[in-house]
Amino acid sequence: MSSEPDDVTAPVLLITGASTGIGAATARLARQQGWRLVLAARSADKLEALAEELGGPEHALAVECDVTDWDAQQRMVQRALDAFEGLDAAFANAGFGGARGFLKDTPERWREMVLTNVYGAALTIRATIPALTSSQGHLVLTSSVAGRRVLPGSFYSVTKHAVTAMGEAARQDLHGTGIRVTLIEPGMVDTPFFENKPTDALEGEDIARAVLFALSQPAHVDVNEILVRPTAQQG
Ligand SMILES: NC(=O)c1ccc[n+]([C@@H]2O[C@H](COP(=O)([O-])OP(=O)(O)OC[C@H]3O[C@@H](n4cnc5c(N)ncnc54)[C@H](OP(=O)(O)O)[C@@H]3O)[C@@H](O)[C@H]2O)c1
Repeated sequence: MSSEPDDVTAPVLLITGASTGIGAATARLARQQGWRLVLAARSADKLEALAEELGGPEHALAVECDVTDWDAQQRMVQRALDAFEGLDAAFANAGFGGARGFLKDTPERWREMVLTNVYGAALTIRATIPALTSSQGHLVLTSSVAGRRVLPGSFYSVTKHAVTAMGEAARQDLHGTGIRVTLIEPGMVDTPFFENKPTDALEGEDIARAVLFALSQPAHVDVNEILVRPTAQQG
């Protein structure tokens, strides 16, 4: 990747949950397609390594951010604006899963899951709306197949149903601003999301292509939802 500064007109994509998995794969593909990037997550070391791989801060800015922290999300957006003077798209992607069964995970883990998957995504929307209004930009949210169908005992599925609702609520709320809203609903993807490597799963790049497909449409086209399963996944 070139380390020459980009054209200042190159569009800017902010990704939460950019340190690994789907977020990191989307950052790599977006960079190849000419986007400048703001990479956000809690793991500063992984973000810095990825930003370096993508050409350094002229092209990819690493911003440590816990999405459950409103002040941190506001600082993240301010860092993006200070570095790149605008924001063309935001990908609210940070999230994690858990064990199925209402007697399995601890109440504290449920609390963290709601704060990250639901509250965190809502805060990213809230923090980026002013900049996306200025750019008539694009908001992308990672829900899941689990946000479309209920899985037995899955509290994660409950949080992802909330994200699915959030995407549609935001789309209607932002009507008239020019901001487009896309919900990405992956099936099983081989990422650190799983403790044990899944078989017959998608790769992060498969979801990255879906994100970039939505982002690359003309301004009058809003791809509202993309549901992507591995061919081998039944439910
Ligand atoms: N893998 C799948 O099969 C699958 C399927 C459907 C949907 N999804 C969704 O896809 C999204 C990305 O997951 P993934 O599969 O790519 O898993 P992953 O590799 O574990 O990525 C999760 C990302 O979220 C970040 N994150 C977690 N908690 C955070 C917090 N409080 N603040 C900021 N960042 C946080 C992690 O970074 P740090 O730990 O560095 O903060 C990491 O970058 C999630 O929303 C997940 O629910 C995954």
